[in-house]
Amino acid sequence: MTIQIRTLTPTIGAEIGGIDLAGPLSNQQFDAIHQALLDHQVIFFRDQRMTVAQHKDFGARFGKLHIHPNAPKTLPDHPEILTIKAGPDSKRVAGEVWHSDVSCDVEPPMGSILHIHEVPENGGGDTMFASMYAAYDALSPAMQSILGTLTAVHDSRKSANHQYRDPAPDQQFPHAEHPIIRTHPETGRRALFVNRGFTTRIPQLTQTESDALLEMLFRHAETPKFVCRFKWQPNSVAFWDNRAVQHQALWDYFPQRRFGYRVTICGDRPR
Ligand code: SIN
Repeated sequence: MTIQIRTLTPTIGAEIGGIDLAGPLSNQQFDAIHQALLDHQVIFFRDQRMTVAQHKDFGARFGKLHIHPNAPKTLPDHPEILTIKAGPDSKRVAGEVWHSDVSCDVEPPMGSILHIHEVPENGGGDTMFASMYAAYDALSPAMQSILGTLTAVHDSRKSANHQYRDPAPDQQFPHAEHPIIRTHPETGRRALFVNRGFTTRIPQLTQTESDALLEMLFRHAETPKFVCRFKWQPNSVAFWDNRAVQHQALWDYFPQRRFGYRVTICGDRPR
């Protein structure tokens, strides 16, 4: 059976039907999903009943699975699983600030696959995804050219300030310097690669210049016309390409519960 693809916006996002992610994927199915991810940057699936092992197997078709250095390992036999959980006792939630996952790593993840099991009872808890191809394309040629000469520091200490739990005493704080404009290793397209969650400064500029330019770029990246918004149902799956999008999880449902598991696929050094 061939998969069906329904785009969510002309710029970013598509919903994929006609596939059971729990089953072993044929090479043809794998190629079709991979191509849909490259074409649409984030892809969504409904009614997927995957076990944790099947979720990991699906992710592992796309690359080695990442183990988050600081997130609690809630499933001891599955350190690759990141639990996404909010409820009446939560003080913060994961991903509330716009970010590209773990961009503070020297080799940030290529993609992430989130399987939501429980959604808030009165709605809410949508996730927003913004196309960093569109953000790059909308910049003036002069700004594209200046940014092409600059790098930015991504520091996990910044994300620790808005983490969903307080940092553990032995917590590591990875940081890395990446080009502000990266070239996607598979599509060859250029993408803006700074985000409010992790990016702290542009070392080639003065502090004032760096603060002003980064704030302009964060706001630009979050422009609504670069964004698609996904409404979750139980057993929905989102698979996003961290090299081409950034995202934000809306926490508009306190004190209701929302729960799911994420696997993250290792990536390479941005260039
Ligand atoms: C995240 O992976 O950043 C969280 C996304 C979400 O909960 O929708």
